[in-house]
Amino acid sequence: MKNQWYKNAVIYQIYPRSFKDGNGDGIGDIKGIISQIDYLSQLGIDAIWFSPMYPSPNADYGYDISDYTAINPEFGTMEEFELMVKLLHERGIRVLMDLVINHTSDKHRWFEQSRQSRDNPYRNYYYWADGKGRNGKRPPNNWTSFFLGRAWQYDENTKQWYLHLFDKNQPDLNYFNPQVMREIQQILRFWLNKGVDGFRCDVITLLAKTKGLPNGFPKIALVGSEHYIDGTRMEELLEQLQQVLREYDAFTVGESVFITVPKALRYTTEGNEYLTTVFAFDQVSADNYFGVKQLVRKFSLRRLKKSVGVWQHGLYGKSWNTLFWENHDQPRIVGRYCSATLHRSEGAKMLATVLMTLSGTPFVYQGQELGATSPAFDNLDDYRDVETFRSYATLKKVFGKRGAMKRIKYCSRDNARTPMQWNSDRNAGFTDGDETWIKVNPNYTEINVRSQTLEADSVLNYYRKLIKLRKSDPAFVYGTYTDCMPRSKHIWAYLRRSEYGTLAVVCNFANKNVKFCPPKQMTEPGEYQAVTSDYADSPAALGKTILRPYEAIVYRLKS
Ligand code: GLC
Ligand code: CA
Repeated sequence: MKNQWYKNAVIYQIYPRSFKDGNGDGIGDIKGIISQIDYLSQLGIDAIWFSPMYPSPNADYGYDISDYTAINPEFGTMEEFELMVKLLHERGIRVLMDLVINHTSDKHRWFEQSRQSRDNPYRNYYYWADGKGRNGKRPPNNWTSFFLGRAWQYDENTKQWYLHLFDKNQPDLNYFNPQVMREIQQILRFWLNKGVDGFRCDVITLLAKTKGLPNGFPKIALVGSEHYIDGTRMEELLEQLQQVLREYDAFTVGESVFITVPKALRYTTEGNEYLTTVFAFDQVSADNYFGVKQLVRKFSLRRLKKSVGVWQHGLYGKSWNTLFWENHDQPRIVGRYCSATLHRSEGAKMLATVLMTLSGTPFVYQGQELGATSPAFDNLDDYRDVETFRSYATLKKVFGKRGAMKRIKYCSRDNARTPMQWNSDRNAGFTDGDETWIKVNPNYTEINVRSQTLEADSVLNYYRKLIKLRKSDPAFVYGTYTDCMPRSKHIWAYLRRSEYGTLAVVCNFANKNVKFCPPKQMTEPGEYQAVTSDYADSPAALGKTILRPYEAIVYRLKS
């Protein structure tokens, strides 16, 4: 296994719109980020993935890009961006941009040209097709959008339909046209020449559609997905990106919906990498059906352990995992995998412990380090996210108004997008202005950076401690993974073994006391000593004990 920077690294995700406002307009910006560089540096992180900062009409808040080589004026200027990169690099923090190339905004110059006429030179940058049926009033195929509803939009001007796997303001780029890839290669170069260290590649595995865009199998939830997820041309397209990325030794993490271990190996096997790593979603699907977050069900630790085990074993020694509980598309993990009310702080620390002690690169999403919770707004007017509105419309038909709202409150992406809670001043110290683009979570008076900085045993300080520990001890990074109690409903107990040492991690996922007796694999000769725990007085030696609610302890075998 190669030692590479990203294996030891902890990566932090910033959603710029909600991190810190530097000019009082209620929208986060680069100036705000620069003002918090000390905070980022003290967290101990090695790289930051920035959600899109390019100009965007905000149909999907930055994931609909209208200009790939500029900075969104809401966020600042190119000069400010360059300054930020320089300041972060001075602190040893790498910069990862979000690369959204499955689709553009419908306000992108290419699409504005494309829709002009059927013979416009940009026509083939996108997927245009005649409709079916009399007068072409039915879409060209039966595919559905990730935001629910059909994946095609009729355009009156040229009397054809265009494909959009997401919102209708996000037309899909046509990678059968080689010119499109050449444009993207130039965009990569543009940012890499500015010193950017890599990319998080948005829905990258959707790039390769089946030729002719045939109808999908109607019984699959996302109709047509067999014709665009992990298509046969994926390697070919990724190789074309690599032609540029390789030159700069750039890191990539590819967002990969519904990915499996064999497919991940297809893209990320060491020595033959098309992507450095991928994001899989199984570990954030232990409270829903089929990985569809709207289909909520009760959290199950056994389900979680099972899916984590598949990835831990599946990639070990061949490729490299990513580890995350949260991002800008997920509701807060506190409140899903542990209670948001009873023993919140211990629950958040327990989840932090797992994240920092599995094999892979941990990603922490802004606010997660505070144990932030989902605001679960009651009123639809308080939401901003297009997916939320589209899901609500569909869910209402199936579950009625109340059932729909219940699900939205649980799974809306806006749950992760409320402003970062800096202190207990007005608007959580996020802005000096009166308004914020989305409401602040009212619990900011209780959960915020300032109070958690002062409080020695806060969730924030626990994250700092764990990040430091992980970075100082390669046993955290390079060990194998063995689940020692796969059948336990409440306890997650695993070993990490490597030439650097052995760790035993013991976590009680129940919100109550649970008896623990060390499993056989943890009783081999030698003495295990606690290196960290979320309760101050956890037993220092590994043995029979009663674990308290969300108690989590990391032991190290004395060498
Ligand atoms: C990814 C992004 C999400 C966005 C979608 C379309 O899933 O994480 O926020 O809506 O792609 O770009
Ligand atoms: Ca601002």
